[in-house]
Amino acid sequence: MRIDIITLFPELLRSPFEASIVKRAIEGGKAEVHFHDLRDYSTNKYKQVDDYPYGGGAGMVMMIEPIDKCISTLKAARHYDEIIYMTPDGTTLDQAVANQCSLMENIIILCGHYKGVDQRVRDQFITREISIGDFVLSGGELAAAVFCDSLIRLIPGVLGDESSALSDSYQDGLLAPPIYTRPADYKGWTVPPILTSGNTPAVERWREEQALKRTQRLRPDLLEE
Ligand code: ADE
Repeated sequence: MRIDIITLFPELLRSPFEASIVKRAIEGGKAEVHFHDLRDYSTNKYKQVDDYPYGGGAGMVMMIEPIDKCISTLKAARHYDEIIYMTPDGTTLDQAVANQCSLMENIIILCGHYKGVDQRVRDQFITREISIGDFVLSGGELAAAVFCDSLIRLIPGVLGDESSALSDSYQDGLLAPPIYTRPADYKGWTVPPILTSGNTPAVERWREEQALKRTQRLRPDLLEE
């Protein structure tokens, strides 16, 4: 999977791709991530990328021209499955969206800033709009990093059996069950005995029960769907 991220602040985006599972996926050739600084596509001698909104009002609007130039350059080189705009008024990211997008070959992600982008960008170029929740960030970069992490870990071969995505919360519509590691007794706080019983089918049943109980307690809305 190739991900091209268009941003005004590439420095905000680097570190999430330089550690842990995502780094391993990139080094292993499962994912390629490229950052494109919008200022490089400004035609203005001041490298201007934003301007005042027509009709007045507070805040600046990201101009269409540099975004058009950047997207056109990328599209001339390959086909993109989706051109995604990170925005608080998009569809809320969930595991189903992550699963679906993780199967894509090439995607562009546009990060907004200030008041957002000229509406014509959304009308002409964007095929999908994604929010990471009902709150407003200073820009789309951190949201893009969250979205990319959720996709990259789902690419086949990125997670080994030992950390399979199949046992994640949400993957089967339930929260994940409680987990424990050594020591079995820490200050008298013990691990549920079933987990050290060696009875694999019983452990499996316990995990399913616990996942259901936890979901009923913390996220009953998931069981209504
Ligand atoms: N940009 C600003 N806030 C955002 C959010 N909640 N989700 C996605 N992009 C954003």
